Amino acid sequence: MVGLVGLGGAVGRGGSRVDFHWMGARADGGAMTAHLTAKRAAALSSPTMAGPDISRRVGGLKPSVTVAVAATARAMKAAGEDVIGFTLGEPDFDTPGFIKDAAIEALREGQTKYIATLGDTETRGAIAQKLTEENGIPGLTWEHVAVSAGAKQALFVLMHCLFDQPAPGEPTGQLVMPTPTWVSYEPIAELAGAEVVSLATRAEDGFRISPERLGEAITERTRAIVLCSPSNPCGTMYAEEDLLAIGRVIEGVVERAPGLVVIVDEIYEKLVYGGARHFSLGSIPAIAERVITINGMSKAYAMTGWRAGYCACPGAFGKRLMKAMGTLQGQISTNTTSFIMPAIRAALRDGHDEVEKMRSAFESRSHVLGERLRAIPGLRMGAIEGAIYAFPDVSAHFGKVSPKGARIESSLTFCEAMLREQKLAVIPGEDFGSPGEKHVRLSFACDEQTIDRGTERLAAFVDSLT
Ligand SMILES: Cc1ncc(COP(=O)(O)O)c(C=O)c1O
Repeated sequence: MVGLVGLGGAVGRGGSRVDFHWMGARADGGAMTAHLTAKRAAALSSPTMAGPDISRRVGGLKPSVTVAVAATARAMKAAGEDVIGFTLGEPDFDTPGFIKDAAIEALREGQTKYIATLGDTETRGAIAQKLTEENGIPGLTWEHVAVSAGAKQALFVLMHCLFDQPAPGEPTGQLVMPTPTWVSYEPIAELAGAEVVSLATRAEDGFRISPERLGEAITERTRAIVLCSPSNPCGTMYAEEDLLAIGRVIEGVVERAPGLVVIVDEIYEKLVYGGARHFSLGSIPAIAERVITINGMSKAYAMTGWRAGYCACPGAFGKRLMKAMGTLQGQISTNTTSFIMPAIRAALRDGHDEVEKMRSAFESRSHVLGERLRAIPGLRMGAIEGAIYAFPDVSAHFGKVSPKGARIESSLTFCEAMLREQKLAVIPGEDFGSPGEKHVRLSFACDEQTIDRGTERLAAFVDSLT
């Protein structure tokens, strides 16, 4: 059996039961008691029977709904059900061969030992060169770059270098975060001691925060802002003029928030559509030394499993920050895998044609998916501008009932009922922050035939609601 909490369940053809347990489950298994007898639950909760405790900090973490939905869909498939999934944010292409060859060669050559914690100088230099030439970020050398095990680890280490657990009587440092946005920023920042200030955006603005609202949210307690462009989950992005205006606001608030930095997650920078040009906030000279750029190999080069991400910031602060990140990462994992360093360099140097092939395939899928979704009654969405996601508003169907009696009251109940009744897995938008609760996220990291079959099921589900 898979799953813990009684939000209903599905019985596979093979007779095995797959339960849904996306919301409210906790990392310490706190939700598990919902299925236990009262006696056993009481025994388990007694300190002598329950065994050692998990720390409150980690025990209170909510597991990612994205991963949980994908796991439920996988379990249903394993139980023999014909499930279609639009869940995971990972390119379905294989890593290009020449990138693999660079790693294989390095492995054969014996590059199998510990290396410098933040990556070798050559690779850090190649990343600095990429960010200078392609992104226009000034003043970068290898000393302003850190390589980590994925952009996620870079963010984790970074946030711990920016935030402190407040001392008694000291105000908590704040992270300002326009939403909907990627689910991991909030828990990572909170673990580091930050208080997260969410700013809800609007679908009609392409989920972009206005420079004025961003400026108003910044106080002397604001330590960092995090922007994700192109956006997971929204599939929209900030244009150059939006970022120039945001840059002027940042420049203007520095007196009020002298320690302010902006973290810009550009992991989807290569996946942009409709002839749009990606623009880096870090290329604005007046604020460049306050902008920390996060990026990595996962999405552009189909290298999610390699765990290769990086972080960069120019100037004296950038250098200090990288040193601090090295100290912390040195206590976590030391370097990310040694023999992938030449592969990172090969990808950055020679990957343009392969990236363009994948980008163009994603663009054509974005058109197919967008067209199919807009044809479904009650679904509302704007253009898909970047990343690999469509994020339609399904709230026109709230208040309805499914054929099997599920009351659709939220994005979560919409997704649960659709998975159970149409075997279609998409991600409920609640976890991404407001107004995500009206939306569902569909990844188009799948072939067009899957998009056709999946959207037929989505249309059938919507049609079945009364
Ligand atoms: C916006 C965003 N940032 C960062 C990451 C993490 O990427 P990585 O595989 O490099 O850790 C993801 C992964 O889904 C993402 O969507």
